[in-house]
Amino acid sequence: MTRASLDKRPSDVAAMFDGVAEKYDLTNDVLSLGQTRLWRRAVAQALAVRAGERVLDLGAGTGTSSLPFAEAGAQVVPCDFSLGMLREGKKRHPGLPLTAGDATKLPFADGAFDAATISFALRNVHDPDAALREMRRVVRPGGRLVVCEFSHPTFGPFRTVYTEYLMRALPPVATKVSSNPDAYVYLAESIRAWPDQPALAGRLKSAGWSSVAWRNLTGGIVALHRGTNPA
Ligand SMILES: C[S@@+](CC[C@H](N)C(=O)[O-])C[C@H]1O[C@@H](n2cnc3c(N)ncnc32)[C@H](O)[C@@H]1O
Repeated sequence: MTRASLDKRPSDVAAMFDGVAEKYDLTNDVLSLGQTRLWRRAVAQALAVRAGERVLDLGAGTGTSSLPFAEAGAQVVPCDFSLGMLREGKKRHPGLPLTAGDATKLPFADGAFDAATISFALRNVHDPDAALREMRRVVRPGGRLVVCEFSHPTFGPFRTVYTEYLMRALPPVATKVSSNPDAYVYLAESIRAWPDQPALAGRLKSAGWSSVAWRNLTGGIVALHRGTNPA
């Protein structure tokens, strides 16, 4: 079974997700103790899509993160480069227009979307700054971005407990529920190495997004960063 390392070679990352695709959604629910559903609801609220809007859900995996937008009446396009995740998504959500594409070279025209979002995926992209620029290219002027990603708890003692939970408990629990427990060693490592909230906000600004702000969820385990494509 493949597990990516922190250099995030695209072929390793895609192969790793191919390998966990079948049990991906179940494992997510178990390991996050059900929090994933709350986080997805918060993303939908932050993006505030209106019926008929065109929304890109990048790194959409099996398409589960796209469902709240489809339910709100948007024309959501889930895009991912793991064919295994897309295949699993097609079985579960045959109505979604799942699309193969690399986040750093998106197969969409300039300004094709009213909004873009990316959940638990930017951290896995080998060049996240290129992905942030690409999302800006395909979102129309005045359009919105919401990035949902694991982040860093803001309260020191909680951060310590959480880091212990992550590094120690996650891989053994994953052994019971995942088809590739090693992938969850990568998960823990990649979360620790990911920039904190202000640093990620800086990366959005450098990619050209304006009005950048963030909101912490579950004490900062997850952060939602948002931005607007300047007109
Ligand atoms: C942890 S999953 C998240 C899936 C979904 N957004 C969710 O919230 O459940 C991360 C996804 O990012 C995708 N990914 C990583 N790098 C990518 C890239 N360069 N281009 C497209 N997708 C990528 C992986 O294939 C994987 O399906």
